Amino acid sequence: MILDRRQALKAVFGWAAGSPLALAQGEDPLYGPLNVFDFAELAKKKLDPLAWDYLEGGSEDEASLRDNRAIFRKVIIRPRALVDVHKIDLSLELFGKKLDYPILLDPAGGKNCFYPNGELEVSKAAARAKALHITNGGIEEFLESGQAPVWWQVTTGGQFQNPQSMRSFVQRLESMGCSGICFTVDIMHVSHRERDIRNRLERAWCETGLPKRDADGRMPPAKNPWRVGVYPSRPAPTPTWNTLRELTAMTKLPVIVKGILTGEDAARCVESGASCVMVSNHGARQLDHVGSTLEALPEVVRAVQGRIPVLVDGGFRRGTDILKGLALGAKAVAIARPYLYGLAAFGGRGVERVLELLKTELALDMALAGVPTLASIDSSLVRFRDSLLE
Ligand SMILES: Cc1cc2nc3c(=O)[nH]c(=O)nc-3n(C[C@H](O)[C@H](O)[C@H](O)COP(=O)(O)O)c2cc1C
Repeated sequence: MILDRRQALKAVFGWAAGSPLALAQGEDPLYGPLNVFDFAELAKKKLDPLAWDYLEGGSEDEASLRDNRAIFRKVIIRPRALVDVHKIDLSLELFGKKLDYPILLDPAGGKNCFYPNGELEVSKAAARAKALHITNGGIEEFLESGQAPVWWQVTTGGQFQNPQSMRSFVQRLESMGCSGICFTVDIMHVSHRERDIRNRLERAWCETGLPKRDADGRMPPAKNPWRVGVYPSRPAPTPTWNTLRELTAMTKLPVIVKGILTGEDAARCVESGASCVMVSNHGARQLDHVGSTLEALPEVVRAVQGRIPVLVDGGFRRGTDILKGLALGAKAVAIARPYLYGLAAFGGRGVERVLELLKTELALDMALAGVPTLASIDSSLVRFRDSLLE
């Protein structure tokens, strides 16, 4: 029998489906979850409920948390027909470095609540997946080994109290081979995350890992539980635009400002020497009722006028979500909870698998939408629909 090309391929794949490799994949629970939501379910099952609430929750009413997801139903894709989509290219360049795909790992503190030695686990997974990892630090040895991926250190301002401490922080990052500095500007005070407050979570537990419950399932009493009713104050002035100007003048590393939600602030970032802004509401974990990040994105993109790249995060769970973010002007999209679900469920392998699933979903969605490269994606690919806006 003579097989044509398609029949021959079918025969090969048919055989592969029954091969030991395919069977091994089938039996490995890592390959059970089909998407980010499946990973979330597994993570919820595996984690102590306190850790799950810390991972998943938002602040106060959790209005922005719902908005971050709901907005994706209000943006629809306008696919293009009859485009050659036999090859899909997800690659891009950010600050002179080539990235294989436009999905970055956001910083997330408290990973030891989800998996032992969580930061290192994520960093190693990011290296294997060739993803850019914005880290909260604590992985210096891995970084110095030269195997770590392109990465950014995040700071929330503590190191910027005076020019000396800023300088030593910047020098340390430069000498470690860090590729950028991510300056998170929306967490000068910590919000009320009421799930955690009701759970009497001790914030320090998120750094060290949750203590074991006793035989009756009780946590040890928290020494310093998260509370309401504490008037906000910090012992030293919090960072200002002047701080950002000093920082950008002090380093050659790109400075990305994370936590921008308005066009005015985005324009000030450009004027203050920032190399990039990330539209972010901190995963709806800080000020509530700020709307979704996808709503804020067009205004920021307009204000920046192509002078620096714009990134976005918040609620991205599907390839189509990422496609919408890119269409509305983001250069790349960052995620936190999705990879934390993977981490909680399977450690670093889970992080890698989540990235693989998102990456392949995005590629497939691009193929189906008739946009084979990132450059072919623009705002004409989407529109906001009115009917769901109420
Ligand atoms: C458990 C957790 C811890 C976080 N810790 C930090 C942090 O230390 N610094 C920071 O800039 N953002 C932090 N974030 C916010 C994320 O970087 C990111 O902005 C947001 O979670 C993205 O939304 P997503 O989780 O829906 O993908 C944290 C988020 C989570 C879920």
